[in-house]
Amino acid sequence: MGATIARLAKRLFPKCEMRILMVGLDSSGKTTIIYKLRLGEIVTTIPTIGFNVECVEYKNISFSVWDVGGQDKIRPLWRHYFHNTHVLIFVVDSSDRQRISEARNELHHILSNFELGNVILLVFANKQDVPDSMDASEVADKLGLHSLHQRRWYIQSTSATTGRGLYEGLDWLANQLSSKG
Ligand code: GTP
Ligand code: MG
Repeated sequence: MGATIARLAKRLFPKCEMRILMVGLDSSGKTTIIYKLRLGEIVTTIPTIGFNVECVEYKNISFSVWDVGGQDKIRPLWRHYFHNTHVLIFVVDSSDRQRISEARNELHHILSNFELGNVILLVFANKQDVPDSMDASEVADKLGLHSLHQRRWYIQSTSATTGRGLYEGLDWLANQLSSKG
């Protein structure tokens, strides 16, 4: 009986141990990603003004994923979500060549915040299904990821609308977190 209640409580109120903050420019695909991971479905999104938070369980790790809106006027709010963050997922629209330098500036700006000093960085080079989009190595170069010497980072090609690459990214995270202990 006790075990049943504990199992039920765990399902109703999952304890999410690892906090993932997911940011990136508006329309890069963050909300599409969070619901693809949570529901396995593509949802119709509207620009996020505040945030969405969902618990995602994968490989015995429960992640609370915070998806924060990326429009330029609300980007100053990102810093309010930094505290206690273990992992930063930065989502890039790989088909948006015009704004890749803006994405780079935003990424380096937030990484300079002391509260994110120890976070692991996972970049999703999203929208790979769009013809002529930049591949992951081009996105890595244009974001200046190779200059991040003190940081554990990884870039994963993804397509949120097909789901391609999302779990490969979480695999890398799970490995990093288990090797961290
Ligand atoms: P903000 O909330 O404004 O910060 O945007 P967001 O990053 O949450 O973007 P959102 O998930 O709302 O996606 C914006 C648009 O891009 C939607 O029309 C999505 O369907 C589309 N989209 C997201 N991911 C992909 C992808 O991998 N491929 C393609 N082709 N479209 C995508
Ligand atoms: Mg959104």
